Amino acid sequence: MIIDHQADLTLAVELAMARTPDPRLREVMAALVRHAHAFVREVRPTDEEFERGIDFLIGIGQATDEKKNEVVLAADVLGISSLVGLLNKPLDGVRTAPALLGPFWRRNAPECAPGDSIVRCAVEGERLLVRGSVRDPAGRPIAGARIDVWQASPVGLYENQDDGQPEMNLRGLFTADAAGAYHFETVRPAGYPVPTDGPVGDLLRAQRRHPYRPAHIHFMVTAPGHATLVTQIFADEQDRLETDVTFGVLEPLVARFEPKEGGNLQVLRCDFVLEAGETRIPKAPIP
Ligand code: BEZ
Ligand code: FE
Repeated sequence: MIIDHQADLTLAVELAMARTPDPRLREVMAALVRHAHAFVREVRPTDEEFERGIDFLIGIGQATDEKKNEVVLAADVLGISSLVGLLNKPLDGVRTAPALLGPFWRRNAPECAPGDSIVRCAVEGERLLVRGSVRDPAGRPIAGARIDVWQASPVGLYENQDDGQPEMNLRGLFTADAAGAYHFETVRPAGYPVPTDGPVGDLLRAQRRHPYRPAHIHFMVTAPGHATLVTQIFADEQDRLETDVTFGVLEPLVARFEPKEGGNLQVLRCDFVLEAGETRIPKAPIP
């Protein structure tokens, strides 16, 4: 098709892609082009702005390495990761609500026995006992469910960001017992800023946005015959719950860290409900 007006362009691109044999790819790309062209028509970027947009995309790729996934981070601070999660698993009051995976989940967390601590070096901070259960929507325990846990330290850094922490510190993989129960020891996590040394940080500064996430612990819970649950439990008493830079906080995911009677320990209860479905393990954002 020979183009003689900008209005012809969208149709020309759609026609060029129309023979894509994979129907889902055809549908997704047609929608992408429609929305992207509508965006360009609305924004009317100058040539310089178009170059800046391309530089941003190049920059998030180049800033991605073994310690940090800037592309995932960009999707997170734009609310896209949380939106995909909620579209795929709307809140239904039964299964546990989802929360974004984030850029720091790693495969092969150390296998742990019930009650083990995931603190693998001396860490200053309040000791925390996390306990809970994994059940199906009918309340039946899911024995043998796997609970993969990861969190930031009390100074707000994941082990992959911090040379002072040993490999796999504050990460662990637990197995629910016959009653679907699990428990482990850790330290109370702190809220933290997402990495701001790359193009995402430049964007946040340009938008006068703070980079903080409220304190939370990540969980990925899996069991054969059940849909994988990726979620986070947030500490209450946090002033940043309403302005999480990644838009991940949902009411049912906010939990109380209770002081344990007669001890210097806090206790957090995290009960999970998994619906029937397929176990899908996400692609790890970092190795
Ligand atoms: C996290 O919770 O680990 C996280 C999520 C999004 C961006 C950065 C960190
Ligand atoms: Fe996190």
